[in-house]
Amino acid sequence: MAAYTYEAQRQDELSVTKGSEVSVMEKHADGWWLISATSGVGLVPGNYFAEVDDTIGGLTAVTSIVDVNGTLLNSTMEVSLPGFLLLNQRADLRVEAKLGKGGSGDIYRGTLLNPDLTRKNENHSAVAVKMIKRVPGISPENELAIFHQEVSIMWSVSFHENVISMLGYCEGPNMIVTELLDTDLMDYVQNQPQQITPPVACRILFHISRAMVEIHRIGIIHRDLKCANILLEGVASPARLRAKICDFGIARNASRPKIINQKIVSIAGFSLLYTSPETFARLVVKNLNPDPEDEKKADVYSWAIIVYEVMFRTRAWNGERPEDIERLVRSGKRPRCSKADVERDKYLNPVCDPLLFPHARWL
Ligand SMILES: Nc1ncnc2c1ncn2[C@@H]1O[C@H](COP(=O)(O)OP(=O)(O)OP(=O)(O)O)[C@@H](O)[C@H]1O
Ligand SMILES: [Mg+2]
Repeated sequence: MAAYTYEAQRQDELSVTKGSEVSVMEKHADGWWLISATSGVGLVPGNYFAEVDDTIGGLTAVTSIVDVNGTLLNSTMEVSLPGFLLLNQRADLRVEAKLGKGGSGDIYRGTLLNPDLTRKNENHSAVAVKMIKRVPGISPENELAIFHQEVSIMWSVSFHENVISMLGYCEGPNMIVTELLDTDLMDYVQNQPQQITPPVACRILFHISRAMVEIHRIGIIHRDLKCANILLEGVASPARLRAKICDFGIARNASRPKIINQKIVSIAGFSLLYTSPETFARLVVKNLNPDPEDEKKADVYSWAIIVYEVMFRTRAWNGERPEDIERLVRSGKRPRCSKADVERDKYLNPVCDPLLFPHARWL
């Protein structure tokens, strides 16, 4: 979708009006895109297409919709979502108190009214309901396509024991119904740091890595890994503690652009503290279709920031001004923790002991 009106300057260019939907036929390395619209075919600067600012939670989303042949026939939903996942909001579910909020929606506690669903939810009737909020500037059709993409990606990874398990979704308003977990890792790090002993930290990090390996193996890139997007269950007992990745709102399926006759939705966004230097650079030039292998590496960078936060039980870039973080990261700086801080910490001390880890170096 065109985010701005562009007036053609040369014969091979195309004029587009703000809000018009187009098909992207080719993306050239110099930033110009070959566009097909009802008015014809021609070149337009790539950065004229859909830009949405979502200010909640410090998240900025850049959204681009590429409709390969203008039809939703064989859509993502039809291809990937079994019918039983579409729930009946009145008959299957009661939405209750608000639990929290994120950039793309509010999370509510819900109760399942359908015994079959309760059985699927390991006999728990309590669930979490993510109520997706409307994004200004995006047509209802594209909004639904983005929503279906989140649901279909979530469904494709939901089988993994370290990924949140999805029970279904509802449309109008758009909601995703998942198992209800105890808390998220950001809350745990901030409010129960004394619980995070080295074995607990290793357990959590191992769970996240295991899920990431599997997600990447099947071609999904999460693109928004951060402590707030890791949920925890069993926090009352370290032996039962389990971490699960959630929030596939800006995830993408690396293989999808190869599928023809299908609506392709590419959404880019970032969470400041966890964004790799390469991702920052890409967002600046609005390269919305980067190499999937590079994006996997960006997930690994985010994972490393999570490791830092869990091990040091603090926020990364604590004390830095948010507006400085991008510059620091892109100039090669990384979060720091002083040696004195670690030596004072009776839990971290053995983990960071240079005798045990002779190759460990201070950042
Ligand atoms: N199944 C769940 N059980 C318990 N808490 C949950 C659950 N799902 C989400 N939450 C809480 O709600 C928060 C927001 O959820 P989620 O990350 O899915 O939303 P979002 O709008 O996509 O967030 P973001 O700001 O990352 O874009 C999580 O960080 C977590 O605290
Ligand atoms: Mg989130």
